[in-house]
Amino acid sequence: MEIIHDIASIKQAIKKARQAGHTIGLVPTMGYLHEGHLSLLRQARADNQLVILSIFVNPLQFGVGEDYEEYPRDLTGDAAQAEKTGCHIIFAPTVKEMYPQGYNTFVDVEKLTDGLCGASRPGHFRGVTTVVAKLFNIVTPDRAYFGQKDAQQALVIQKMARDLNMDLDVIIMPIIREDDGQAMSSRNAYLSHEERKAAPILNHTLIQAASQIQTGERDATTIRAQIFQAISAEPLAAIDYISIVDATDLTDVIKIKGPTLIALAVRFGKTRLIDNIIVEV
Ligand code: PAJ
Repeated sequence: MEIIHDIASIKQAIKKARQAGHTIGLVPTMGYLHEGHLSLLRQARADNQLVILSIFVNPLQFGVGEDYEEYPRDLTGDAAQAEKTGCHIIFAPTVKEMYPQGYNTFVDVEKLTDGLCGASRPGHFRGVTTVVAKLFNIVTPDRAYFGQKDAQQALVIQKMARDLNMDLDVIIMPIIREDDGQAMSSRNAYLSHEERKAAPILNHTLIQAASQIQTGERDATTIRAQIFQAISAEPLAAIDYISIVDATDLTDVIKIKGPTLIALAVRFGKTRLIDNIIVEV
């Protein structure tokens, strides 16, 4: 496995792979890898002849006062884990390489980014789509892999690829969880012992809500109020948002029908966690 830091060199490696007729799978990440990321890499390895993992903590998608500086970084550990999945190349550019002095071009997907994390993190998705568009242009993957853990991000990237006629498949993979149900996340590393113990309430509450819908409850306001109450009862949890939306266009749902996404963001101390579930009715 190779680690490449500059755009010219990765483009050269891509050119060689293309000449050999190889298909290319890209897994964009911010590093500090866990099983969620590794599941994307394994799928990429199964589907493609060349697998590229990008690791880049993208300053553009962090708001003022967010955790850009503190975001955990461990390239050596990441490389060891990635290599075991059969990944061929890690692309780990510097901020200067991605955004040189005078950088001025941004990609913005409208509407889909209005609610959920888009509302509580202004500018976040503009940063995500800009960096992912750049990665797609640099790597020219046949397939790119994203996790359902970031449900809104996955839809926004699919929409960007469609709207801008990008010639690739955006593949969305299921959420990988710890044994207690907590969705794997690089940010779990921030949690204190007590916060980590309390965090699975998110997954448990979402499962409860889904089962209530499956047993006939259709009123989104009722379901939302129940989720709100259950999470509010946890003293370490501070709710950022709880949204019940159409799983395809993220518009608010009043009467639940069709594939529905229940998504939430909750703070435990300084750590903001997200989780979601899709209910088919
Ligand atoms: P990051 O948070 O590192 O996540 C990289 C990819 O791993 C994303 O597609 C995310 O949805 C997926 N992922 C994270 N936790 C997961 C889990 N528990 N199960 C399944 N997949 C999981 O998301 C980003 O980075 C960035 O916004 C990025 C797309 C790289 C742009 O900077």
